[in-house]
Amino acid sequence: MLSERLLSKTIGLGATRLMRSKLTADTSVPAPKPGHEYLLYVHVPFCDVLCPYCSFTRFPFQEETARRYFKALRRELEMIRDLGYKPTSAYIGGGTPTILMDELVRTVDYVRELFPTVEEISSETNPPHLDRELLAGLAGKVQRLSVGVQSFDNALLKRMDRFNKYGSAEEIVERIQNVHDMFETFNVDMIFNFPGQTVGMIERDIDIFKTTGANQLTYYPLMASPGSEKLMQTCFHGQVDYRLEKELYHAIFDKMTASAAQGGAGFYATDIYTFAADPGAMIDEYVVDYGEYVAAGCGGYSFLGDEIYTNDSSLAGYIRRVEEGTMSVASKIDMGRANGKRYRMGRELFGLRLDNRAWARDFGRPVQRDLPVEYGYLKANGAFATDNADELTLTRAGRYLVLVMMRQIFIGMNTERDRQRTLLPPEERKMFTDSAERQVAAARAADASEGYYTY
Ligand SMILES: C[S@@+](CC[C@H](N)C(=O)[O-])C[C@H]1O[C@@H](n2cnc3c(N)ncnc32)[C@H](O)[C@@H]1O
Ligand code: SF4
Repeated sequence: MLSERLLSKTIGLGATRLMRSKLTADTSVPAPKPGHEYLLYVHVPFCDVLCPYCSFTRFPFQEETARRYFKALRRELEMIRDLGYKPTSAYIGGGTPTILMDELVRTVDYVRELFPTVEEISSETNPPHLDRELLAGLAGKVQRLSVGVQSFDNALLKRMDRFNKYGSAEEIVERIQNVHDMFETFNVDMIFNFPGQTVGMIERDIDIFKTTGANQLTYYPLMASPGSEKLMQTCFHGQVDYRLEKELYHAIFDKMTASAAQGGAGFYATDIYTFAADPGAMIDEYVVDYGEYVAAGCGGYSFLGDEIYTNDSSLAGYIRRVEEGTMSVASKIDMGRANGKRYRMGRELFGLRLDNRAWARDFGRPVQRDLPVEYGYLKANGAFATDNADELTLTRAGRYLVLVMMRQIFIGMNTERDRQRTLLPPEERKMFTDSAERQVAAARAADASEGYYTY
């Protein structure tokens, strides 16, 4: 326990510092490097309602702006093509990419036209868009659809202001049952460790998930930036408490991987917190499969070598830059060689296996000697199931330690996004104060309707 808290604190402080970007005169990402494989990330930053826990770059939906945005997005994709990128896979994330289906379909078609090397496309969505007619335009073009559910507990959905806009747990289950067969991989995104969540509630959520027919589940640990933590406290009447996370995580892992005869889902773990019916399925965390990716869209992050290029996170700023004829890069993070290696170690272990032969090929010596402090810490805490010149794989204790490491890195990124948000023009900042007021009002209405902790 102490080792996890120490790890949390050390990496948390380091990640917050590391992820702080600096303004740059570069307006574009650099050209691709020969022999490197890239993923294309495309960001669509609009949502019908904003959720209190979320720090991603997203704005309340407004059709006219969104149409202008999609046009700029396609223009930025052309610029990425012109630089010579030949991505083999594309991930369209949000926000809610399906918010304007005609624009999304046009963008998907354009991605295929600009990048014939793209073999598979993944897109995110929200429950109201799970409709056969609406999704018909994506069938056969998008191989993996991922829907955000977070929880099948109606009281929790009300508290995070998703119940009214995105539907009750019963409605969501029915919607997934009706459409999951339209995509090779149908993923459900859930979150654990909301204040007040218990092992019993999580197990019930998994039992409900099993009835949906979806063949993949990503169960994120709650990753709250200091800004969203305050809002969560108000909406959930409870502190975000990472001490409960380990028990919840192990309960999820046990139930997702246990056989159906034992009451489990019978799925395989494909990374630290993604589970699939088929172990070869596309996984949710594109960071695992692809070390490097290039991003189009407002607030997008391009991970290229040891550098991270961040796109303008202001909607107006983003559109203006692209309409003026440049890519939208506004700031940059230089991780440096040592942190770049630490990130790679975390990323590979996140995918449950570090390829030590590839490590020695790239850095001249195996990871045990190349990152002795990081390796030694994990080793001393019983993290490795296999530890040799070929690979490192994880024990149960190791999986949780890697979750803690990655959670802190993602919180560092969320904290940076919060900071960027404070620098937005006043009219954009106001959208967030208005949304926060709405979120608190929804939580208050949930208090009145059911009291708290009545699960
Ligand atoms: C950024 S959203 C985009 C797709 C869609 N709008 C949705 O709500 O699912 C993708 C997923 O990220 C996860 N997520 C967002 N904020 C999170 C946080 N603070 N901690 C953990 N997971 C989070 C949620 O599970 C969410 O479904
Ligand atoms: S979780 Fe999804 S719907 Fe909620 S604010 Fe974030 S991106 Fe939007």
